[in-house]
Amino acid sequence: MKLVLLGAPGAGKGTQAKSLSKELKLAHISTGDLLRVAIKENTPLGQEAKKYVESGELVPDHLVTKMVIERLSREDVSEGFILDGFPRNRQQAVELDDFLSTKSTCNYFAFYLDASEKTLIKRLSGRRICGMCQAVYHLVNFPPKEDMVCDHCQSELYQRPDDKEETIKNRLAVYNRQTAPVVEYYSKQNRLIHLKADAEASLVLDEMLKILATPFTLLKEQKKKV
Ligand code: AP5
Repeated sequence: MKLVLLGAPGAGKGTQAKSLSKELKLAHISTGDLLRVAIKENTPLGQEAKKYVESGELVPDHLVTKMVIERLSREDVSEGFILDGFPRNRQQAVELDDFLSTKSTCNYFAFYLDASEKTLIKRLSGRRICGMCQAVYHLVNFPPKEDMVCDHCQSELYQRPDDKEETIKNRLAVYNRQTAPVVEYYSKQNRLIHLKADAEASLVLDEMLKILATPFTLLKEQKKKV
């Protein structure tokens, strides 16, 4: 099974991708996570990407697409994958299709997690991350047991630099300008599954699993009728 998760910053792509990856035993590929690791390790990619990630702009396509294609070429994605944060514009969507068309099957669906701007801002401003194991918390929705300490590895939590108020505004504007058109791209391809994502995480997950339990061919037929 191959899935793409689309949605604005804070829509819950990472949260749902992690849960789906556990449930369905699929590789979770998050371009944001890959870029943050590259920045932390100060690799040549990380050095180039840093200024874009921290200001909320998109990292240039040639860098991100190369990184994703390399990742999609590894063995652990042979059974399928969940892409979280890619594609982010039409060009990336076209390049993904070009790459997948060279593989045995280009069948995949794109979930569009659609949450209100009020929800997005609350989620992003309250998010905290573990500096060591990258576990994701929320000050209100998923607080750690001990203030600012990771439940799993006891390391300190931090706020992503791009989760500061000014950068959140820019990320939402970049999303509306560059990524929202990808929703239409997938809708035209009859791949899009539109899901309201304001509800609590477990309810959104249940809804996704229910949809995915529908046999692939049936889902495709149902979508044609909508
Ligand atoms: P990336 O890391 O992908 O950030 P994003 O798309 O802005 O998405 P977020 O991680 O902010 O949100 P999310 O939807 O995953 O929400 P989450 O589940 O964490 O990208 C960062 C940067 O990297 C970009 O700005 C860009 O510079 C660069 N980049 C990445 N991909 C790129 C690409 N393809 N091309 C170019 N540049 C690229 O949830 C958020 C919070 O809400 C958490 O605290 C969570 O606990 C909580 N929460 C989640 N769901 C729920 C729920 N249902 N109910 C209650 N709380 C919830």
